[in-house]
Amino acid sequence: MDPDLWLECINCHEKFDAKKMIYTCEKCGHLLDVKYGNLERALDGDWKNKPVSVWKYSPFLPQLKEVISLNEGKTNLYHCFNLSDKLGINNLLVKNEGENPTGSFKDRGMTVGVSVAKSLENKIVACASTGNTSASLAAYAAKARINCVVFIPSGKIALGKLAQAMMYGAFILAIKGNFDEALELVQESCEKFHMYLLNSLNPYRLEGQKTIGYEIIDQLGWQVPDTIILPIGNAGNISAIYKGLLEWREIGLIDRIPRMIGIQAEGSAPIANAYKRGEKTVTFVEKPETLATAIRIGKPVNWEKAIRAIYGSEGLADTVSDAEILEAQKTLARTEGIFVEPASASTIAGLKKLIEKGEIERDERVVCVTTGHGLKDPDTAIKSCGETIQVEADINEIEKILSKIIEKPMVAHAV
Ligand code: F0G
Repeated sequence: MDPDLWLECINCHEKFDAKKMIYTCEKCGHLLDVKYGNLERALDGDWKNKPVSVWKYSPFLPQLKEVISLNEGKTNLYHCFNLSDKLGINNLLVKNEGENPTGSFKDRGMTVGVSVAKSLENKIVACASTGNTSASLAAYAAKARINCVVFIPSGKIALGKLAQAMMYGAFILAIKGNFDEALELVQESCEKFHMYLLNSLNPYRLEGQKTIGYEIIDQLGWQVPDTIILPIGNAGNISAIYKGLLEWREIGLIDRIPRMIGIQAEGSAPIANAYKRGEKTVTFVEKPETLATAIRIGKPVNWEKAIRAIYGSEGLADTVSDAEILEAQKTLARTEGIFVEPASASTIAGLKKLIEKGEIERDERVVCVTTGHGLKDPDTAIKSCGETIQVEADINEIEKILSKIIEKPMVAHAV
């Protein structure tokens, strides 16, 4: 066993060789974490002076000979003054993960996950996906020159994401079932056909994703925000960010952990429902529904890690309706010029709800993580914005219409 790096069960703490291709504990079946023996190595490096990016934080990541990268990370952290005013708080930031190379935070996980896949000499990588994971894995596999198989729920992934996976050359299986079924099938297939699984069940992927939290603090001049809000689907991301911050606290780089707040769509909310009942075990949702297809998940595989993140950080979880998601998506676009996909807008909808409930206070420094780009799902955006104005190519016709619009300026901004 490498004393610097190993896999460890989050339940029975059994340790496994870092090179072992397993995704759950062989002894008790619970989830695994990547563990480091010498995180203190980070205390005397000059990494802190480099510009932000996933691999800036390499003292906190597996050390690999070859890194497969598309220049992921380094997403902007926006101070949202207009939206702050509208919602009645003073200090709102948006970490816009849609600015990653394939348009979602998944790229942070895939640069690490696919690099590990390559170092373990895998020939085929695979995942099940509501869309973004498949787009990201397909891109990184192409760069790594590894074959890629993706299982998607047929008819239930946004068009932009499907276009990406196809264009990057993935072998796509559209499963006649939902994401949860696709995930069970890909796990079985990986075992049977010796493919390397790159869903967030793979603990290496979460190592890359934890850098979202690192970048936020770094971009805030090494100050810790009070609250981080993010959507929960398969529950990997909230777990990853929390783990990363625990590691920073362990070696004294930060002295506290922000409240981790997870938002789920009402029809797909096993974790938020458990939290609302004050429970630490989760009852799965058999038939998850929401128009935010990225988080249309009823059996989140990382639920146990997410519950730890929520309770361990004194955070919370809540639900929002599809209507609230669509409204928040427009509000963010029309106040800040940031266009995110519906799942990502759930964070803004959740923030609004939590301010109204008094769960978030006016002076709290809040960071909403918007996980995917708005262009991923153009259909939903167009449907939610309504018709465009059809007009003859004639200046007099245009004048007639514009004169009506000019009487009520800022139409779009009146959301
Ligand atoms: N936001 C977006 C845009 C996503 O694509 C996902 C997950 C999440 C949030 C939820 O993150 O699973 O870590 O809790 N998408 C996965 C996929 C399931 O297949 O692309 P999580």
